[in-house]
Amino acid sequence: MSSRHPQLHLILLLLAYYCSTHTAASGGNGTTIQCLPDQASSLLQMKRSFFHNPNLSSWQHGTDCCHWEGVGCDRASGQVITLDLSDRNLRSTSGLSPALFNLTSLTNLSLSGNDFGLTSLPSFGFERLIELVSLNLSDACFAGQIAIGISHLKNLRSLDLSYNTDLYLQDPSFQTLVANLSNLRELYLDRVSILSGEANWSVALADSVPLLQNISLSTCELSSPIHHSFSQLRFLTTINLADNEISGQVPGFFAKFSFLPKKGFPPLYK
Ligand SMILES: *[C@@H]1O[C@H](CO)[C@@H](O)[C@H](O)[C@H]1NC(C)=O
Ligand SMILES: *[C@@H]1O[C@H](CO)[C@@H](O)[C@H](O)[C@H]1NC(C)=O
Ligand SMILES: *[C@@H]1O[C@H](CO)[C@@H](O)[C@H](O)[C@H]1NC(C)=O
Ligand SMILES: *[C@@H]1O[C@H](CO)[C@@H](O)[C@H](O)[C@H]1NC(C)=O
Ligand SMILES: *[C@@H]1O[C@H](CO)[C@@H](O)[C@H](O)[C@H]1NC(C)=O
Ligand SMILES: *[C@@H]1O[C@H](CO)[C@@H](O)[C@H](O)[C@H]1NC(C)=O
Ligand SMILES: *[C@@H]1O[C@H](CO)[C@@H](O)[C@H](O)[C@H]1NC(C)=O
Ligand SMILES: *[C@@H]1O[C@H](CO)[C@@H](O)[C@H](O)[C@H]1NC(C)=O
Repeated sequence: MSSRHPQLHLILLLLAYYCSTHTAASGGNGTTIQCLPDQASSLLQMKRSFFHNPNLSSWQHGTDCCHWEGVGCDRASGQVITLDLSDRNLRSTSGLSPALFNLTSLTNLSLSGNDFGLTSLPSFGFERLIELVSLNLSDACFAGQIAIGISHLKNLRSLDLSYNTDLYLQDPSFQTLVANLSNLRELYLDRVSILSGEANWSVALADSVPLLQNISLSTCELSSPIHHSFSQLRFLTTINLADNEISGQVPGFFAKFSFLPKKGFPPLYK
């Protein structure tokens, strides 16, 4: 066959050559993930909500946002999945930008250690970040109510809102905040005032957050005793309840937690 149609053979060879070079140039190994335009524009909108800071100098229009400081993208989809701006000394001009809530594929978000100027957390928006497994807003000068949206983030494994001394839990109550956070392993609310749901804080945790490993609620204005059902939280490794006015004794069942250090209790009370 080939001897009778040499031209066809050549054409097929050329075609095969074209296809192989074309594929190598456009896809496969060499491909780098580019930031999606809507994600870049949300990030740039966030940038505008901070006073100028050289730590965000890589955040420039027209460049690939997947390579910007603190930004990480999913390699397959190009969506922004991590945003870690912790301790960048950022100061907001007008509070947390709602543009953040358009980054709906975020799994890990940290804005801790910056200065949001005692502004409130936006009431609406956090519920859109449903993929979040880790949320860290600690030590960031947030004030007011803890946003109800955070209580909808059922995939959260780690929640850190600690050291925002003007932040408080009232509506939602402590119980409402944790009700759907059944995947939570780590909860840090140190120095956040728990003003409602305080009476059965330990019951709420036992009922709603069975996988809890680390909990720190120092200086939260807790006064109610630790309920017996708290003993159901058998994965606990660290418990910090310092600087509260918790009544009653250190419960005997604490000794039964298999993962707690055997020698000496963690700092429970002041
Ligand atoms: C192709 O991918 C492999 C595996 O990820 C990697 O080791 C190699 O360096 C890549 N080559 C190029 C040209 O990107
Ligand atoms: C940039 O971030 C670093 C920490 O990552 C911080 O020490 C520094 O003060 C920041 N720069 C400015 C100008 O705020
Ligand atoms: C979020 O995205 C939508 C469309 O994708 C856009 O209309 C809206 O302005 C964005 N909101 C913010 C705060 O960036
Ligand atoms: C939150 O971020 C701060 C850094 O600003 C860090 O010290 C702290 O451990 C983080 N919290 C969690 C739960 O990882
Ligand atoms: C995201 O958060 C989870 C839960 O805290 C953690 O196990 C994981 O290492 C974090 N991933 C990144 C990329 O920081
Ligand atoms: C918890 O989830 C249930 C079922 O999805 C929902 O009806 C309820 O409003 C949620 N509660 C909170 C506090 O988010
Ligand atoms: C906590 O107390 C409130 C009112 O006292 C009650 O309605 C609620 O069911 C209690 N929650 C739990 C988890 O026991
Ligand atoms: C959680 O507790 C474990 C066990 O004590 C500890 O190794 C780990 O560092 C703690 N995590 C944080 C973020 O403190």
